[in-house]
Amino acid sequence: MSFLYRTFLRPAVFLQDSERAHSRVLSVLSSMSRTRFSLSMLGALYRSPDLPITVMNIDFPNPLGLAAGMDKNGEAVPSWQSIGYGFCEIGGVTLHEQPGNPKPRMFRASKDKALINRMGFNNIGARALKEQLQLWKDKGLWPDSPVGINLGKSKKTPLKEAPSDYAGSIKILWKHADFFVINVSSPNTPGLRDLQESKNLELVIKECCKTNKECSKVENEDEKPLLVKIAPELNEGFLEDIIKLVKKYKISGIVATNTTLDRPETNDPSSEKIYKEVGGLSGAPLKDKSTEMIRKIYRLTKGKIPIIGVGGIFTAEDAWNKIAAGASVVQLYTGLVFEGPGIAKSIVKGLKKRLESEGFESISDVVGIEA
Ligand SMILES: Cc1cc2nc3c(=O)[nH]c(=O)nc-3n(C[C@H](O)[C@H](O)[C@H](O)COP(=O)(O)O)c2cc1C
Repeated sequence: MSFLYRTFLRPAVFLQDSERAHSRVLSVLSSMSRTRFSLSMLGALYRSPDLPITVMNIDFPNPLGLAAGMDKNGEAVPSWQSIGYGFCEIGGVTLHEQPGNPKPRMFRASKDKALINRMGFNNIGARALKEQLQLWKDKGLWPDSPVGINLGKSKKTPLKEAPSDYAGSIKILWKHADFFVINVSSPNTPGLRDLQESKNLELVIKECCKTNKECSKVENEDEKPLLVKIAPELNEGFLEDIIKLVKKYKISGIVATNTTLDRPETNDPSSEKIYKEVGGLSGAPLKDKSTEMIRKIYRLTKGKIPIIGVGGIFTAEDAWNKIAAGASVVQLYTGLVFEGPGIAKSIVKGLKKRLESEGFESISDVVGIEA
């Protein structure tokens, strides 16, 4: 299926501007999300085999998820499971609706299998997202697999008011998320990465934990797992400080990593031109950097804090390497753009085959074996 996509569909999709192609594909998936019939058609083609794992008290049917940024407004929530993902992360959503940065703001470096983006959290805002998610529930189309929500800071909110901005989104969306990801690592919102500094992050985490606790009391349910998403270029000192906070506030996990501001060496003139664009780089050139960050976190935490590994996953081997480095589950975004809708099934099948051939009983036995 990936071969068919790469040979016939991708050349046509890639003739279009990246963001327009993304919107078109998403709108097809959104339409297909609306009926059980089309979802089951997608499922017949693309559904992954079971490869279950339980992390943060959440049951994942397989360990490969859709990364944040692909479905910012929850337009295609029912589809992700049907095309093979074990979970999806919706968003980044901000408390206030915002248009994001001026277009163009997403660029393909096709030869290097990389993207540069400076979207700047374009999204419909937490309240509208809540309505969209409620709609899927009302139609009985909510997936069985977990749905996480990625939270960003609204551009108009000053950094010092970031804690209430993040917490405000949690309050609005609390009932609809299986977990929340506090994203303090997008390079495209001015100053956002400063929130990775310990004293700033502590204020954000404290407020989010407080709101989580209050919502759990009101709803008479357990608190939701909260995770923090970090940048791949965090130095060891910052990372150690973040881990201290994660332990202090009993944060459930770390998502590693977001896009990078670094640019790789390239011999390809068209990629070189793209790399001059401002924004975060994702895809193949990010792979090793994010795997190293996962390994560092796993070692520093002695494997006690779950890690969601993301960055440059295209194959089962890439996913395996991240799990072996310490990720409990993994995600991708750019791989889907380059390899097409068959990628999740092909990766999960590949993981399952390797698990069996190496004699492991469950995917959780692989977590951290090479850290
Ligand atoms: C166009 C685009 C938009 C993204 N938006 C978000 C976002 O809103 N929040 C977030 O935490 N990460 C966002 N990301 C980062 C991805 O979730 C992921 O961490 C990164 O792309 C690395 O994974 P990949 O190499 O598989 O793409 C975005 C990535 C891309 C390419």
